[in-house]
Amino acid sequence: MPMIDVADTRLRYRERGEGPVALFVHGFPLDATMWLDQMALLSGLRRCVAVDLRGFGRSDPVLDEVLTMERHADDLAALLDGLAIDAVDLVGLSMGGYVALAFSQLHPTRLRTLALVDTRSEADGDEARAGRDEAARRLLTHGRRDLADRMEGALLAPEASPAVRGRVRTMIEGIRYETALGALEGMKVRSDRTAFLGRVAVPAAVITGEHDAITPPAGARAMAAAIAGATYTEIAGAGHLTPMERPGAVATALRGLFAGH
Ligand code: MLT
Repeated sequence: MPMIDVADTRLRYRERGEGPVALFVHGFPLDATMWLDQMALLSGLRRCVAVDLRGFGRSDPVLDEVLTMERHADDLAALLDGLAIDAVDLVGLSMGGYVALAFSQLHPTRLRTLALVDTRSEADGDEARAGRDEAARRLLTHGRRDLADRMEGALLAPEASPAVRGRVRTMIEGIRYETALGALEGMKVRSDRTAFLGRVAVPAAVITGEHDAITPPAGARAMAAAIAGATYTEIAGAGHLTPMERPGAVATALRGLFAGH
């Protein structure tokens, strides 16, 4: 798994396939392995690059950082610079979608298409912010297994397979504590990018799980309506992690977005 220097850290990324680059950005508290199914399914069409964001997965550990969406977005731009890639099809799930929106705003010329998967444009409200503080406190007292126990039901639909459950738990139980704390803080202070949706100027797709309990379909539909020309796909029988729960349906939606670009 290659590693690349960006700014003051090093990022690991996976790649598979050939052609124009599609860049995949994972959610919280996950890593690039959540995209393995999509990389396998789309590698005939795209050079699929899935990155472990700063501090996550096998990227270098962080010290004491608030992992803001802008920081991650700038890291992605630096990753593209390092790989001599001009523009990408950007695919972000949940926190990865927050990062994808930040990237779209900060680095618009690097974008060919945008896929927002199981995510939202709004900032955290008071309740969500308090929830982040509680999650951070609880993580340090109860540990990652407790985090996995509590998140599994929210991330996955009841019909998710044991293998998918296992992969999700491997990611959550493997996250570095300092990364989780930095990410919770970064999501807590993230900007509201709802007004920006009307300025997205590339072909876009919004994809969400029918049973997504974290970023429910109603919000995703509104987000699609706010982006000129965006398509909306609801994935039947899936929760928040559609690319792992229903890989074929998500790949079909992404192929539709990529076609002709
Ligand atoms: C994610 O799946 O990335 C997170 O659950 C998003 C969030 O906590 O806002």
